[in-house]
Amino acid sequence: MNQTAISVKGLKKSFNNKEVLKGVDFEVGCGEIFALLGSNGAGKTTTVNILSTLLKPDGGEAYICGFDVQRQSDHVRQSISLTGQFAALDGMLTGRENLKLIAKLRGVPKPSQVADSLLAKFSLTDAASRRADQYSGGMKRRLDLAMSLIGPPAVLFLDEPTTGLDPEARIEVWNTIEELASSGTTILLTTQYLEEAEQLADRIAILHGGKIITTGTLTELKEMYPPAKVEYIEKQPTLEEIFLEIISKKEAM
Ligand SMILES: Nc1ncnc2c1ncn2[C@@H]1O[C@H](COP(=O)(O)OP(=O)(O)OP(=O)(O)O)[C@@H](O)[C@H]1O
Ligand SMILES: [Mg+2]
Repeated sequence: MNQTAISVKGLKKSFNNKEVLKGVDFEVGCGEIFALLGSNGAGKTTTVNILSTLLKPDGGEAYICGFDVQRQSDHVRQSISLTGQFAALDGMLTGRENLKLIAKLRGVPKPSQVADSLLAKFSLTDAASRRADQYSGGMKRRLDLAMSLIGPPAVLFLDEPTTGLDPEARIEVWNTIEELASSGTTILLTTQYLEEAEQLADRIAILHGGKIITTGTLTELKEMYPPAKVEYIEKQPTLEEIFLEIISKKEAM
């Protein structure tokens, strides 16, 4: 592995005497896309919140770009960006105003230009002057993601980045994530969609029973299981493929 961007050792966290994280260990290399999978309540958001300094662990250590999340939280905050499981927008502001606000807070030059190019990238130009609380769920999600790209951060945490998005918007977000990673951003994402991890992740970790029970590339994970059987089946298109086909025909008309 090249340089380590995220290092987690023996991370522990309990809520009301219930131990949610029982010693979580993993490492993510710079520029990697790392997917954290786990059932509802497995502790994915808890892990992301600890790594992004929003929550204190009860035990263990975590480093982001070499900075200790507990003792050097200011440095950690300067290195990261987070798109939480639930959108963090100011509903009173328009889409463009939300983006400009973050760009100004982060001290980015030319906040208006940054806002406009992100609005275009996330297909929000037409809605740019509307208040964010009038956006649909998918539009809020896209604006939230756009906000987290301002900077740009060295490490990006994406907690269920495509939950609630339609298939087209999901593919758009996947492309953005891949683009970011190829420009050197390290990405830790949590997801319920296994095909999302399959599509995007360089490495996958499964969080279960408070620990990482498996880590590896998709190929490595596949090798752990019995060899594939060869069967001849007629492959029907998935509903997603049908949906995207119909939409693209409609757009071409
Ligand atoms: N602030 C809190 N107070 C009490 N319990 C909490 C708190 N935050 C999380 N928990 C509990 O910790 C466990 C892990 O929650 P967490 O949100 O990390 O799971 P998750 O893997 O992100 O689940 P999901 O897939 O539903 O988002 C759950 O049982 C949850 O109820
Ligand atoms: Mg969660």
